[in-house]
Amino acid sequence: MTAITLDRIGKIYGGAPVLRDASLSIAGGQFVALVGGSGAGKTTLLKTINALIAPTTGRVLIDGQDVAGQPGPALRRRIGYVFQEVGLFPHMTVAQNIGITPSLLDWPAERIAARVETLLDLVDLPRDIAPRLPAALSGGQRQRVGVARALAAEPSILLMDEPFGALDPVTRVALADDVRRLHETLGLTTVMVTHDVGEALLLADRIVVMASGAIIADDTPAALLTRTHADPRVADLIDAPRRQAEKLARLAHG
Ligand SMILES: Nc1ncnc2c1ncn2[C@@H]1O[C@H](COP(=O)(O)OP(=O)(O)O)[C@@H](O)[C@H]1O
Ligand SMILES: [Mg+2]
Repeated sequence: MTAITLDRIGKIYGGAPVLRDASLSIAGGQFVALVGGSGAGKTTLLKTINALIAPTTGRVLIDGQDVAGQPGPALRRRIGYVFQEVGLFPHMTVAQNIGITPSLLDWPAERIAARVETLLDLVDLPRDIAPRLPAALSGGQRQRVGVARALAAEPSILLMDEPFGALDPVTRVALADDVRRLHETLGLTTVMVTHDVGEALLLADRIVVMASGAIIADDTPAALLTRTHADPRVADLIDAPRRQAEKLARLAHG
């Protein structure tokens, strides 16, 4: 399983720092949730992992190797990415969308076709949607295609940017459970950005909280819920889901 190290990552846009010395060591097989308010730097940090964004200072290491020197196609094969707005190509079929990375890697057509069927099974979509265009799918189905596309070239790392943001709560929970199951069965190292702290607490092994480009907390869900936080920004973030859980528990137990 693949380890990720972020070593004092800084990023400056037009003179303004948006990442400040962010360091994170993620063991192979971990499921990490990156949480924090809008503009905290979550997307920017996530994109440094697959070199979509080059940090101004610091290094990203994957299994000890600096990503800066690595060719794009090799990185894209090893690292699956699910975009914030799904980002399926609207004029391409489901099969073509899922097969895009294998095509770029020049896999033979039969191998791509077989892989598309395997992936549709894996993300629990019917095989007969392969020839459809994204517009002919539900939001949940589109997001499943996005996950299948990210997993197409058998990556060992899965990065997801608010993957369930636009979905209704029932679809959201079902897809989140499936992603966690895929994480286990495929032996992935997963980093998921979400602004839903409750979802992060239920899904991840580890929660990393960001504010103003810095990491202000980094702990297990249990520790984050039970500990008293000196930083009021962390306390505020955890407080809402904690109180909701307490209310639900009281309701359920009379
Ligand atoms: N390409 C860019 N140029 C200038 N500023 C940017 C760029 N991308 C992001 N930013 C700024 O960096 C900050 C962090 O953005 P982002 O990483 O998208 O935050 P988050 O995903 O946590 O909402 C924001 O203030 C945003 O406006
Ligand atoms: Mg973002």
